[in-house]
Amino acid sequence: MSMPYLPNPNRYAHIPYERCGRSGLKLPRLSLGLWHNFGGVDVFENGRTMCRAAFDMGITHFDLANNYGPPPGSAEENFGKIMDLDLGPHRDELVISTKAGYHMWDGPYGEWGSRKYMLSSLDQSLERMGLEYVDIFYSHRPDPDTPLEETMGALATAVHGGKALYAGVSNYPADMTREAHAMLDDMGVPLLIHQPRYNLLDREVEPELLPALTELGIGCIPFSPLAQGQLTPRYLKSIPADSRAASDSIFLDADSVKANHSKIVALAEIAEQRGQTLAQMALTWVLRQPAVTTVLIGASSVEQIEENVACASAAGFSDDELKAIDAACA
Ligand SMILES: NC(=O)c1ccc[n+]([C@@H]2O[C@H](COP(=O)([O-])OP(=O)(O)OC[C@H]3O[C@@H](n4cnc5c(N)ncnc54)[C@H](OP(=O)(O)O)[C@@H]3O)[C@@H](O)[C@H]2O)c1
Repeated sequence: MSMPYLPNPNRYAHIPYERCGRSGLKLPRLSLGLWHNFGGVDVFENGRTMCRAAFDMGITHFDLANNYGPPPGSAEENFGKIMDLDLGPHRDELVISTKAGYHMWDGPYGEWGSRKYMLSSLDQSLERMGLEYVDIFYSHRPDPDTPLEETMGALATAVHGGKALYAGVSNYPADMTREAHAMLDDMGVPLLIHQPRYNLLDREVEPELLPALTELGIGCIPFSPLAQGQLTPRYLKSIPADSRAASDSIFLDADSVKANHSKIVALAEIAEQRGQTLAQMALTWVLRQPAVTTVLIGASSVEQIEENVACASAAGFSDDELKAIDAACA
């Protein structure tokens, strides 16, 4: 029989914890997402080792969604196994999130934002993970057809019923976020957090969303802070066989990697001058925003997580460095 997992007793000494918006919940400055590399097609023991190592480094927040895999649902099933095998005794030290919004099952009730879909999806997620509740339940994307009141009402029901402790939205534009915040407020449920895409190559959130989050006291957890691995040396020379761009994933392709090549070369030089790796600099750059509570990284190895966590203690940027970074990205 294998030995039970005993976490690192010094795990809370590595990463600062930041209050999420104006809530009482603190999140680690780096969080781990299970979108890629934790599905049924992946090596289970690798995902398990990454979750244990992340927790050992002080990462208390694990982010999932109903559809993560592939196949859809399998990342939640695997995370449930990891809870059973290793992390279960530490449930009260963990913030586990899931989402509903993208296609999950056939028929008219298997995606978007109806109450029917949102609440049955949450029940399915809890079943797959073997959990009584998640810490954060998100609307994964805005639904152009369902009234926003209905989707927010489903989040509020999840919270009032104890199946989620907090509510979140993801991929919502600024104006809809303001509306969602006001509606949830009326239902007695604060909007805890927003999960948008934000990285050196995609700054769409800067003019409107980030100021709105600060004003309303909503936390922010940017996803794909490394542009899915492009903001690392991973693709500088070629497209490695074990990388996301070479995999069956439809979300990152070789053309996009090639198009960004010269920017990555220039950014890597600035990172080197700062004494950081490119990945660390890209994460430090996202974390420099006062609106940002935590960066949501993905990983395919423990080494990547270790390298990324080291950015938690990095120095801030000088004005000259920020200008050079902007020029490299232009
Ligand atoms: N709400 C949404 O709509 C949404 C959308 C996307 C993602 N997310 C969430 O955000 C999480 C993170 O997204 P993401 O995976 O795109 O984030 P990311 O951090 O931008 O990319 C992660 C990938 O970068 C590579 N990487 C990470 N650290 C590295 C390092 N130090 N050196 C070299 N390569 C490194 C790895 O690629 P390889 O696998 O190729 O090694 C890893 O899988 C997801 O797991 C999910 O929880 C949410």
